[in-house]
Amino acid sequence: MEPEVLPAILVKTRPELLSRIALVKDLVRTIQIDVMDNLFVPNKTVGIEDLIGLPPLPKGVRYEFHWMVKTPERWIARVEGPSTHIVHVETIESAEHFADIRRTAQASGGKLALALNPETPLELALPFIKSVKMVLIMTVHPGFSGQKYIYEMGDKMKALRSLYPKLDIEVDGGVNLETIAHAYSNGANMLAAASAIFSSKDIKGAIQALRKAAKSGGQQ
Ligand code: DX5
Repeated sequence: MEPEVLPAILVKTRPELLSRIALVKDLVRTIQIDVMDNLFVPNKTVGIEDLIGLPPLPKGVRYEFHWMVKTPERWIARVEGPSTHIVHVETIESAEHFADIRRTAQASGGKLALALNPETPLELALPFIKSVKMVLIMTVHPGFSGQKYIYEMGDKMKALRSLYPKLDIEVDGGVNLETIAHAYSNGANMLAAASAIFSSKDIKGAIQALRKAAKSGGQQ
């Protein structure tokens, strides 16, 4: 699979969100928006009112919402459109709860994906994988940008890739020019980065350099 590099936007206000969307919308296929409620993680980002009526994206580009929130279904219900909704496995209470979250995502016009915190075993996600379009393996403890990539997550990526050769597998947290080849060579094909992209003065060049660095470690 070809590597897809995607920008993660972790900000606290709508103006910051809109300006970052404008910076990347013509450069990528997916834009991740990080949403934190100060309950699931100890940090707070843009709130639900900031996410309603986001600018339409060019054809073939979509938003994905990374819901680092305690009750994702309440948030998903408020955001309409053909987006991907990434829900943390740790917030799923039961098979019925998962079915409810899935129905809510479908009703909003979107698709569902799963995320796993570093300490969460892959086994917890397995019952739901056939019903989702992507699995996100966190390579930091969610909450903040600029943390160190956890190399030990390579085993989780490899195990998931061997079980699902065609699944989209995303990695998020500490992805940069040094770490991206590790994620790609272990089976992740979607590579999300915040600081490695937005701290650059040349956003387009930073994305291109990350794509190239991903491939430098060889294909999965
Ligand atoms: C972590 C977020 C990430 C974060 C990545 O809590 O889920 O998306 O913004 O930031 P970097 O790429 O700076 O580690």
